[in-house]
Amino acid sequence: MHRRILVPGALAAASVLLAIPASAAGASPGAPGIGDPYYPAYGNGGYDVSHYDLRLTYQPATDRLEGTATVLARTTQDLSSFDLDFLLDVSEVRVNGVTASFAASGEHELVVTPKSPLVKGTPVTVVVRYAGVPSTKSAYGFSTWHRTPDGAVAADEPESAWWWFPSNDHPLDKATYDVSVAVPDGTRAISNGTLRSTTSRLGWTRYNWRQDKPQATYLATLALGRFDITTSTSEGGVPVVNAYSRDLGDDDGAARASVERTGEIVDWLSGYFGPYPFGSAGGYVPNTTTSYALETQTRVFYSPRQFANGSNTSVVVHELAHQWYGDSVSLKGWRDIWLNEGFARYAQWLWSEHEGEGTAQELADYVYASHPADDPFWTVKPGDPGAENQFDTAVYDRGALAVQALRNEIGDDAFFAVLKGWPRTYAYGSADIADFRAYAEQVSGKPLEALFDTWLFRPSKPASGARTVAAPVRPKSWQKIAATNSVHQN
Ligand code: TRP
Ligand code: ZN
Repeated sequence: MHRRILVPGALAAASVLLAIPASAAGASPGAPGIGDPYYPAYGNGGYDVSHYDLRLTYQPATDRLEGTATVLARTTQDLSSFDLDFLLDVSEVRVNGVTASFAASGEHELVVTPKSPLVKGTPVTVVVRYAGVPSTKSAYGFSTWHRTPDGAVAADEPESAWWWFPSNDHPLDKATYDVSVAVPDGTRAISNGTLRSTTSRLGWTRYNWRQDKPQATYLATLALGRFDITTSTSEGGVPVVNAYSRDLGDDDGAARASVERTGEIVDWLSGYFGPYPFGSAGGYVPNTTTSYALETQTRVFYSPRQFANGSNTSVVVHELAHQWYGDSVSLKGWRDIWLNEGFARYAQWLWSEHEGEGTAQELADYVYASHPADDPFWTVKPGDPGAENQFDTAVYDRGALAVQALRNEIGDDAFFAVLKGWPRTYAYGSADIADFRAYAEQVSGKPLEALFDTWLFRPSKPASGARTVAAPVRPKSWQKIAATNSVHQN
């Protein structure tokens, strides 16, 4: 390829022009979905993104977002066209510098047709210019863009990117990010990673955030509003950046009393999961009316309501545990959700033990005993719950029970080696439950097919094995742990 391009002369130039389209002669459209059976239209086929550069401007008074996304990708097939997942209004698309035609399609697809087909395995730069009022857009009848009195927040799972940047919206395609947002002076923009710089000009301030480690699209977050920002460094050396809406009212104290413990909790979790995988940690509490938290990478989203009854460090433990289990090691498909939620919930059980509020085994016994065999709780298979039950309580509680069952089966030495070795072995990548089972079998030297089948893949209550506790007392930590569940009750 390179040699041909360097050959001078009209004949050589003509052969280059002819050669490129000819080599993509069998080009076809990229699939409108990446192939996830739970969400067939999510993500896209035909390319793999390595970096998103988002240069945005946001006006809180009108909720208008405008900007340019530059997406760096590599093709994985010869492409006559490809999709991005996106809902805002697009004014121009360029592919490798050349204007391309585009059209909206389906619930959230932007179909891009370049002037000439793209050859498999080549780098491609896509520039999308866009604008819109995200709160006016919906797909499948819903919106996950959270408007606040002073701005807005993008944080939801599995869908949040469509409302603010064009993407290959599936955790299988992770990428690094530069998110640069201009907002009127007095408003702040919060996103993932580190704040590289801010600049002010003519009444507007631009915030330049960088995420330099691969990040799934649903873990990208953006918050715009009036925030206080705190910075510190954990004892273990992890820089911490937290942000609090100035309008948290009387939840402000409890929010800070929880989220300001991020550094301490990151260090504590490192003892179980190994070194913290990212260059910064933290969380933010916007003035939304939502009730859940989300493990947005390096900058966890918390709802004020979670602190309405006082501080809750258990939810902070849950979301920070996801930084290893879910964010650094992410899912190959949404059916693998147990790898996220089972382990984040189990981390809460370990924290309960650390706080002297009930051991992991006591919590497991309590979950086991509180659901009789005919409770629909047991019909949810944590290893393949279905899209409707992806975030059912059973994925969390039965999921953590499965983790405890693994611990009891292979013993503490092998179990804690698995807990710490997994995030290192699959760091910054993607994995599925089969990968996890193979890893646990390798570390423990035990066959685990039956155990996984019983605890993750059967729609019925497993026999209790060695332990039978008739009516265990509710552990002290139960209430705070359950407060992480608010998403399932909605
Ligand atoms: N992953 C989140 C957690 O447990 C919970 C969650 C599930 C969620 N679905 C959501 C959060 C939708 C926000 C929106 O930490
Ligand atoms: Zn979770």
